[in-house]
Amino acid sequence: MRDNTFENHLITLQNICHTYVIADHSQPTLSDISLNITRGQSYAIVGTSGSGKSTLLNIIGLLDRASSGHYRLDGFDIGKTTADQRATLRNRLIGFIFQSFNLLPRLSALDNVALPLRYRGCARSEACARARRQLERVGLSARSHHRPADLSGGQRQRVAIARALVGEPALILADEPTGNLDSTTAAEVMALLLQLNRDAGVTLVMVTHDQKLASSLDHCLVVKDGRIAKQEPASA
Ligand SMILES: Nc1ncnc2c1ncn2[C@@H]1O[C@H](COP(=O)(O)OP(=O)(O)O)[C@@H](O)[C@H]1O
Ligand SMILES: [Mg+2]
Repeated sequence: MRDNTFENHLITLQNICHTYVIADHSQPTLSDISLNITRGQSYAIVGTSGSGKSTLLNIIGLLDRASSGHYRLDGFDIGKTTADQRATLRNRLIGFIFQSFNLLPRLSALDNVALPLRYRGCARSEACARARRQLERVGLSARSHHRPADLSGGQRQRVAIARALVGEPALILADEPTGNLDSTTAAEVMALLLQLNRDAGVTLVMVTHDQKLASSLDHCLVVKDGRIAKQEPASA
């Protein structure tokens, strides 16, 4: 099922369309999106509210499916995969970071970070050891036994970043990751994401409203009315 022909491209989207169907009403959200994401590069997705940015990120992250078109991720033809195969690919390849952190409130920071490994069937002792290393990487070792409610917004987002990294993903997807943070904390979280991209070579795709932040990434994709209206640099 895996094809290595396009090894340089972690992601290839061809003519992707998406429509939300609610009762008897259908609303087109993405139209004819074609796009390549090169391994190790960073991409900003910008556009007005409701333009389709999160829908696009959710399709890339295998949380939603395109209505039509072709999606190839790390050599896998996603249209031909089962739900179980997509869940495994998501767990192995992708780390997701959300604006609202999406941590489990009853679990400690350490157990939240260990969770993706536990889903893989990794033993608790090994999962916790690896989770501890990621919390150290984001500067939160001293908070590993705190629950999310006892952490600041910036600390919660760093826990979420550690959780996204624990499975050593090829791809980090972040949907407005600094949207709930003050500007100083946002800058710290952003610096951490950029460092992971530059030093560890993790491909980064991030939705943001922040134009300055977008311009610090390698590529910028402007989404308008469910289409890629502009791509910088144009040759990408
Ligand atoms: N779960 C949903 N059901 C129906 N329509 C939705 C849903 N989520 C988003 N939409 C609609 O799809 C369009 C694109 O939404 P979204 O991808 O969330 O945009 P953005 O992230 O750019 O703000 C919007 O018009 C939005 O109202
Ligand atoms: Mg959104």
